[in-house]
This record gives sequence, structure tokens and C-alpha cells, in this order.
Amino acid sequence: MEKIKLGKVFILFTYSHVIGVMCQSPLSVGTWFNNLNILTAPKSLTLQFYAQDIVTGPGQTTYEIARSSISATSPTSFGILYMVDNQLNTGPDPNSPRVGRRQGLVGFSDLNELALYLSFNFVFQGGLYNGSTISVIGRSRIASTERELSIVGGTGVFRLARGVVIYTTYSFNSTTNNSVFKYTLYITYY
Ligand SMILES: *[C@@H]1O[C@H](CO)[C@@H](O)[C@H](O)[C@H]1NC(C)=O
Ligand SMILES: *[C@@H]1O[C@H](CO)[C@@H](O)[C@H](O)[C@H]1NC(C)=O
Ligand SMILES: *[C@@H]1O[C@H](CO)[C@@H](O)[C@H](O)[C@H]1NC(C)=O
Repeated sequence: MEKIKLGKVFILFTYSHVIGVMCQSPLSVGTWFNNLNILTAPKSLTLQFYAQDIVTGPGQTTYEIARSSISATSPTSFGILYMVDNQLNTGPDPNSPRVGRRQGLVGFSDLNELALYLSFNFVFQGGLYNGSTISVIGRSRIASTERELSIVGGTGVFRLARGVVIYTTYSFNSTTNNSVFKYTLYITYY
């Protein structure tokens, strides 16, 4: 699980070249876009943080919003859909510095094995990436230890982002069903 060598972890609040990209008008975003060309080298960045997925109890951040006619009897919970707004922190402890939120949809999407369809945004709050987002889509096979998702875009600092997310379940409490997920993002952006 720890085999990924991370050279640039926790640089969330230390990069300085990204200041001034945020909150631009449509016209200046257009200028930024038109000045990009095929010779513009993408930057790369590795980020790591943790999400508190609280499905029961105080501070709940994940709620069921829909289920299909077969979900109750489906061995794979097919068709149960959740909306999540999980807190992100630099460490697994919810009291460690906050990074932002994970907001979006999680649903059981496989009739034959336990697997999720995921579609969510990482919303950065504070630091140099405050207000920027990274959009993620993917499939998570629950039996897999390491799950891989796609970074399909972003806003603010992360305009035109692409990349990969690897995530693992850092901890799971079988009394509450609450989890802590560990996310490592390999991002290219301009
Ligand atoms: C982040 O941005 C929001 C909205 O622009 C602002 O209200 C907030 O003070 C900023 N937070 C930090 C820590 O810079
Ligand atoms: C699981 O959650 C319960 C209820 O909050 C708590 O009492 C217990 O210590 C937790 N277990 C672990 C292993 O963290
Ligand atoms: C945890 O999940 C299991 C399996 O889905 C379920 O039976 C149980 O009721 C859940 N516990 C809580 C506290 O929601």
C-alpha cells in the first residue's frame, strides 16, 4: 500500500507560481486559453490527503438519495445512490489541517460484484488552491485494495487538468460503517 514513492506530497500550501489564477472573468479565461498552444508544457503535481466518509452518527456527510426497485434484494446493492460532501484533511485525523471537500455521487453500479460508480469534485478550500476544483470519474471495485480513478478536468488553478487518482481505505469502523479514505492524485495541468 505504501509502495508509491511520493516526492511532492503536502505541497498544497507551498506552491507560489499559481497565485493570481483564480476568479478571472470569462474574457481573461479566454485570453489564458488562447495563449495556450501545443508547446505549453503541462505542470505536474502529486497531492495526498484523506477524506472522512461519515455515513452514520454525528457529523454525517454521506446520505442515500435514491435506490432502484431491485436494490433491497440485490446481492450487490445495485442501484443505491449516495450524495457525499466529505471533509478532506492533510492526515487521517479529522483534526489535522483541512484541505477542502469531496462532493458528488457514489452509487452501486454492478449487478454481479460489489463495485461503485463515482463522479465527484475535490473542492479545495484555503491555501493557494482555494476555490479550485478537480473533477473525478471512475469505477471502484470494493474488493480491490488500491482503486484507480480518472481526473477528467478541473477549474481555477487546475484548468484542463488530467491525471489519475489512487485511493485506498485507510480505516473502516464496522460499528458505524464510517471510513477514512486516503487519496493520492497525480495531476497534470497548465
Ligand atoms: C477562500 O476563498 C473564499 C471565497 O473566495 C474566501 O471567503 C475564503 O476566505 C478563502 N479562504 C482562505 C483560507 O483563503
Ligand atoms: C468505531 O466507532 C465507535 C462509535 O463511534 C467507537 O466507539 C469505536 O471506538 C470505533 N472503533 C474504532 C476501531 O475506531
Ligand atoms: C453497516 O452496514 C451493514 C451492511 O450494509 C448494515 O447491515 C448495518 O446496519 C450498517 N450499520 C449502521 C450503523 O448503519
